Amino acid sequence: MLNKRPDDMQRITTKELADAFIAEQVAEVRAQVGDKKVLLALSGGVDSSVVAALLIKAIGKQLVCVHVNHGLMRKGESEQVIEIFRDGLDANLIYVDATDRFLSLLEGVTEPEAKRKIIGGEFIKVFDEEASKLEGISFLAQGTIYPDIIESDGVKAHHNVGGLPEDMQFELVEPVRLLYKDEVRVVGKALGLPANMVDRQPFPGPGLGVRCLGEIKRDRLHSLRESDAILREEFDKAGLTNKVWQFFTVVPDFRSTGVRDGKRAWDWPVIIRAVNTVDAMTATVPEIDWAVLKKITDRILAEVPGVCRVLYDLSPKGPATIEWE
Ligand code: XMP
Repeated sequence: MLNKRPDDMQRITTKELADAFIAEQVAEVRAQVGDKKVLLALSGGVDSSVVAALLIKAIGKQLVCVHVNHGLMRKGESEQVIEIFRDGLDANLIYVDATDRFLSLLEGVTEPEAKRKIIGGEFIKVFDEEASKLEGISFLAQGTIYPDIIESDGVKAHHNVGGLPEDMQFELVEPVRLLYKDEVRVVGKALGLPANMVDRQPFPGPGLGVRCLGEIKRDRLHSLRESDAILREEFDKAGLTNKVWQFFTVVPDFRSTGVRDGKRAWDWPVIIRAVNTVDAMTATVPEIDWAVLKKITDRILAEVPGVCRVLYDLSPKGPATIEWE
């Protein structure tokens, strides 16, 4: 399998070029896989989604997709995976709701790296268990893209929740391994995937787990998911979705006083984080229109339970990182 991008490989920038790439890959995958089955961990992120759509086109139900919901997805994300792949593309999709499993393992855990480790480790376990229930799988598909090969020796370390089981004895199918991110998006669009999936901003593998600061509690996780959904909706309405590189909310593990219905409240703050960057190594904070921020604040305070304050994080990277944990 070619692991270096040929010097003369044309950058895929148009639908025509994407269609040609797709036709070529469909033939290549069919030749590689024959009538065998292929397994894919489908997170709903850009890379795994594009690989899923490409492989469904090439081998249909010989592809078995496993979507693990770790309970730390954004609002509507798992539902979208099911809707697009199972309902829309008739994919062979196994959906595992492992929310309770993850949240009980995370009980009492406050340290960010410990949280990441647990989430990554458990993801591998759940995926491994599902894989061992299946028979006749010969191949493992991965959404490895070219920067993964250049930056981490071919291991899709930062993008997956922590990689996949190392001892899996499968041959790899990696149809987008020579593509840059922007090319993967063009190919995804040519395959008919919706813009909100293909143009999606980066979302860390541990998901909302690193934005629900400290110990992850269900009530704060709920406030986080709902406030994040409001932020996304209002940014979208204001035409900011494709202008701001990454934006999300954070719910810290401390409270502040408030007043609600004439009574003293003791509620959580919600922090809005929005950044622009080229490579995520440094980042600046966009000057969001005051009316947009006010609208988001009003909605969060009115619609999200247990929240009495909304803050906008003005800190560039560095010294602040993009995520809070
Ligand atoms: P920081 O917070 O380091 O984030 O400035 C830089 C970019 O990386 C993303 N990020 C992660 N992605 N697993 C991931 O897959 C992680 O554990 C993780 N932590 C940070 C972050 O969202 C930002 O885009």
